[in-house]
Amino acid sequence: MTDFEALRRRFPVLARKTYLNSGSYCALADSVRAAINAYMDERLEVGANWDVWVAKNEAVRHAMAAVLHAAPEEIAVTASASAGLNALASALDFRGPRNTVVVSDFEFPTSAQIWHAQEPRGARIVHVPRAANGDIPLEHFARAIDARTQLVAVTQVCFRNGVQLDIAGIVRLAHARGARVLLDCYQAVGALDVDVRRLDVDFAVGGMLKYLLGTAGIGFLYVRGALIPQLTPTHSGWFAQEDIFAMDIGANRPARSARRFEAGTPAVVNCYAAEAGLALILEVGTPAIEARVRALTRRCLDALAALGWASVTPAADARRGPMVCVPAREPAQLLAALLAEDIVVSVRDDNIRAGIHFYNTEEDIDRFVAALAARRDRHHPRACAPGTR
Ligand SMILES: Cc1ncc(COP(=O)(O)O)c(C=O)c1O
Repeated sequence: MTDFEALRRRFPVLARKTYLNSGSYCALADSVRAAINAYMDERLEVGANWDVWVAKNEAVRHAMAAVLHAAPEEIAVTASASAGLNALASALDFRGPRNTVVVSDFEFPTSAQIWHAQEPRGARIVHVPRAANGDIPLEHFARAIDARTQLVAVTQVCFRNGVQLDIAGIVRLAHARGARVLLDCYQAVGALDVDVRRLDVDFAVGGMLKYLLGTAGIGFLYVRGALIPQLTPTHSGWFAQEDIFAMDIGANRPARSARRFEAGTPAVVNCYAAEAGLALILEVGTPAIEARVRALTRRCLDALAALGWASVTPAADARRGPMVCVPAREPAQLLAALLAEDIVVSVRDDNIRAGIHFYNTEEDIDRFVAALAARRDRHHPRACAPGTR
């Protein structure tokens, strides 16, 4: 049995705050802080320690591969999810009959904007709309994916509402029609067990600052091994070369592995943080984390239902991610009131968003729901606006 209480003590902020904001930025673990400090000490004592630093980037690659159930050769360590998306986009050719990228209405802005940025290169972008109930059913994807579709680029868990799309269903549809699938798993990976082989996705992107417990400025791109030789990014650099230190300015010789999707000098300090964060995730194990997070989100949904305050996050286990999103009247004011009580959440659209990780407890959830209950008269979506009664 995992000792979640002991693990919780490794995140000092949790002693002071009801921290339910992991969908925005994780709580800082003692080991991640120590890793960043170790980098600083090295800078003071050694100066430049390039051999160790290049090895750190490799350590992040290996750990990220383990988290995704992929091979290290299939992982590019990038500066952000956006950097991975741009490198992938630069390797795609939109001049033929398969010029279409299908995106969903649940995408994070960057994950749609980067595809629209390919329009001058011939890409046609098709958006899969939501249904009246706010969800995106598989039939909507079935209508959008056709013989012109090159790529279906979908988010696993929507950052606005916590809905988890039916990724396996979307992959089946896309592959049957000859299209590839890119998964944006940023709001899932680290909190759910994301297995790129079981999901059968062709590409996946994300970053380390949320549920992976790392820091900003470092992300990853997974590319299915068999596809790597077929894809040559034009977004490149010396760290993307087969031999980084050949220093040959006469040609572009991309790495045989997914490292060809990288670019310049790695963000070394971020590698230290990411390595420590990923080590903690692997120590606990994503299946155990997923079970814990599921139980906590379930408790939150049940308590909200008992309060008569419906969430926009689905109740079915397979259809929700590690967050619970609660529609609210005057959400910015509610956010500030919760913050004043040391309850840290965020707002997306008109929803209060509670991002839940394994270091949260039943007490955190109960405190959050009690704080909502105390403000029901003003902030419940069906409450009258203040001053109107
Ligand atoms: C689902 C999702 N995709 C992409 C991004 C953007 O990532 P980056 O800033 O690393 O490009 C985010 C950031 O919050 C996100 O939540």
